Amino acid sequence: MALRKIREQGDEILTKKCREVKEMTPRLRELVADMLDTMYEAEGVGLAAPQVGVLKRIVVIDIGEGPIVLVNPRITHQDGEQEGNEGCLSVPGKAGVVVRPNHVIVEAFNEEMKPVTVEGEELLARALCHELDHLEGVMYTSKVKGDLFDTRIEEEESEEEA
Ligand code: NI
Repeated sequence: MALRKIREQGDEILTKKCREVKEMTPRLRELVADMLDTMYEAEGVGLAAPQVGVLKRIVVIDIGEGPIVLVNPRITHQDGEQEGNEGCLSVPGKAGVVVRPNHVIVEAFNEEMKPVTVEGEELLARALCHELDHLEGVMYTSKVKGDLFDTRIEEEESEEEA
């Protein structure tokens, strides 16, 4: 298990566009494994390669239904709308309200470079949109309605209430 340092907002790499993966190499396989380890350790539902400092079009997602690895992903269909709270491992302790499509279809390659199609609704659709935005250098904070709020304070408050 190898953890990588998660880059935080303010780090320029998070604003850069990622490059296509031309072939899967041992180095990129290691990156994928490390991204999964890093996401699970941080208790996130998704992580994109630029968040660990690599400008490649690779994301990992697990909303509790098992790991999804997407290489060169692109949204081929989207519909509906959902409004809800969103956070990011690169913006620790914060969240904000973002409107996303409620349903997306993503075409990509898996870590074997085999074509895969992932269809997501609700949380999975949100995670797919959020992670794919990272590959364009777009942070969710640029799409938030209203202000970011502090999730740590909310957690403390809810503990006091409980
Ligand atoms: Ni994020």
